[in-house]
Amino acid sequence: MPTRILFVCLGNICRSPLADGVFQDRLDSGRLDGDYTVDSAGTGAWHVGEKPDSRMRATASHYGVSLESLRARKFIADDFDRFDLILAMDRKNQQDILSLARSDADRQKVRLFRSYDPEPEDGNVPDPYYGGEDGFHNVFRIVDRTVDALIEDLNSQ
Ligand code: 4NP
Repeated sequence: MPTRILFVCLGNICRSPLADGVFQDRLDSGRLDGDYTVDSAGTGAWHVGEKPDSRMRATASHYGVSLESLRARKFIADDFDRFDLILAMDRKNQQDILSLARSDADRQKVRLFRSYDPEPEDGNVPDPYYGGEDGFHNVFRIVDRTVDALIEDLNSQ
């Protein structure tokens, strides 16, 4: 049985699909020792069925990561059964996920994504949606190094 990882943000069109795509890129290039599956979701439903934001897709593509096959969906309580590790992109996302938890076992699956970041700052991946292009590149740098740190942690287990 593979280890199943879910990345969760608010809209599921910027931060969590990027983490999903970067992790999948590392999986495809053989950087993980074990067997993994990965997905992403949003705590909000506004963008369900949509591709990631065009600015996020362009930034990811600039760094060689394709997000073209991804489509937004909403986080649901069943995700606690379908995933082993649920990584929230910011503290508000984490609270919203925890509000749907049904047990301690559910709660223990939820962590802040940037708890793996060697430079975690305030622990939140800033939401780039209402900002300029710089914000998307900043999110890429954060997600890129945090996914690598996450993989190091997973490979050491
Ligand atoms: P994300 O960014 O949570 O990183 O996908 C957002 C995308 C859309 C909205 C908010 C955040 N929105 O309010 O529509």
